[in-house]
Amino acid sequence: MDSGASRPAVVIDNGTGYTKMGFAGNVEPCFIVPTVVASNNSFLNQPRPNSTKNSNWIGQHNAGVMADLDFYIGEEALSRSKSSSTYSLSYPIKQGKVDDWDSMERFWQHCIFNYLRCDPEDHYFCLTESALTAPESREYTGEIMFETFNIPGLYIAVQPVLALAAGYTTSKCEMTGVVVDVGDGATHVVPVADGYVIGSSIKSIPIAGKDVTRFIQQLMKERGEHVPPEDSFDVARRVKEMYCYTCSDIVKEFNKHDREPAKYIKQWRGTKPKTGAPYSCDIGYERFLGPEVFFNPEIYTSDFTTPLPTVIDKCIQSAPIDTRRALYKNIVLSGGSTMFKDFSRRLQRDIKKIVDARALASEARLVGEIKSQPVEVNVVSHPIQRYAVWFGGSVLASTPEFFTACHTKAEYEECGASICRTNPVFKGMY
Ligand SMILES: Nc1ncnc2c1ncn2[C@@H]1O[C@H](COP(=O)(O)OP(=O)(O)OP(=O)(O)O)[C@@H](O)[C@H]1O
Ligand SMILES: [Mg+2]
Repeated sequence: MDSGASRPAVVIDNGTGYTKMGFAGNVEPCFIVPTVVASNNSFLNQPRPNSTKNSNWIGQHNAGVMADLDFYIGEEALSRSKSSSTYSLSYPIKQGKVDDWDSMERFWQHCIFNYLRCDPEDHYFCLTESALTAPESREYTGEIMFETFNIPGLYIAVQPVLALAAGYTTSKCEMTGVVVDVGDGATHVVPVADGYVIGSSIKSIPIAGKDVTRFIQQLMKERGEHVPPEDSFDVARRVKEMYCYTCSDIVKEFNKHDREPAKYIKQWRGTKPKTGAPYSCDIGYERFLGPEVFFNPEIYTSDFTTPLPTVIDKCIQSAPIDTRRALYKNIVLSGGSTMFKDFSRRLQRDIKKIVDARALASEARLVGEIKSQPVEVNVVSHPIQRYAVWFGGSVLASTPEFFTACHTKAEYEECGASICRTNPVFKGMY
């Protein structure tokens, strides 16, 4: 077997908002960085080469080389673009899927060489993809990994399956459950039975972390808080991550805030980026209204109004009948936007309400017949929700079976990129 198998595999979970990266066997990713690339415009906007003028052609070639060298990723990319107009930002992943392959390749290059500081030829790689990724996308990923980085082996895992593996709470490893992955750019509800995704029952919602941030930004702006406009999105995101919580009843929560404002209203203090002058503002109802967009989406948008608990229930109801009880029993949370305090409690309560109402309605129809057992609804919450997908990858990629499940460089050279279209579910997942 290739020498790469004796070293820990590299595990990278590329998300719309954040990339989690590290080595298999660790409990936490080494780095969590925003998935963004800042490239130097002056190289990118060079005039097209003029074949009659040799010097122009050389200039163009050099510009291409410089563009490949002069770029930044993550927080560094964000600060470069703020301080200088020379750099423009690109976000390689949109709603969970790779949208710009050139930027993605650059991003991986920095992840491997500047962050993880490893030689890709010495490590197997475990990458992740959304449950709705097209097989072609896996081929492109395989091409870049094997051709550009010359890695010895690759496994592309489905994010919800990894999240389910991370959600084990008992020694009995249950690979049947529904994963509710609420990240930055996408929310997916994915049923998994024995490690296999039930593709036809996947449900997606166009509301995720970025929308909660936008909603909070809008609420603060409408109330007339004096947050500098160029900073308002970032402030809203930080307010969301630090102060938001899920409430049980929105009307009661308004009353509580009005009765005891000193207890519930928080203060945000910042400095204006342009002048450096300090400012402060109040954080009020947005503390509970932010996460409420998942339970009452109509307060944020009229384009999509189905609450998340209803979507989860629909997802399970559309799965094969013999899997439904097991699915209701193991609803696993994953992604940064499930971190709001009491999010799991509210979700469990609302799903249970829907299930109980259905049971009551069917009981009314079955007077005198045998009653069915009540359905157990269990939303599993755990401390590593923020990077559950990465953690699942770390666990699976540290099992010996992982290395046999990977596609190797030799197989790639023999059969081509199409081998990357499928990735087997292996025993390590149980
Ligand atoms: N403590 C927190 N409370 C609420 N939201 C949080 C918290 N920490 C992070 N987030 C939000 O979680 C989102 C990032 O989550 P995650 O890293 O799972 O997304 P992603 O993988 O980048 O995106 P996707 O899975 O949609 O492609 C961001 O919107 C971030 O603001
Ligand atoms: Mg994600």
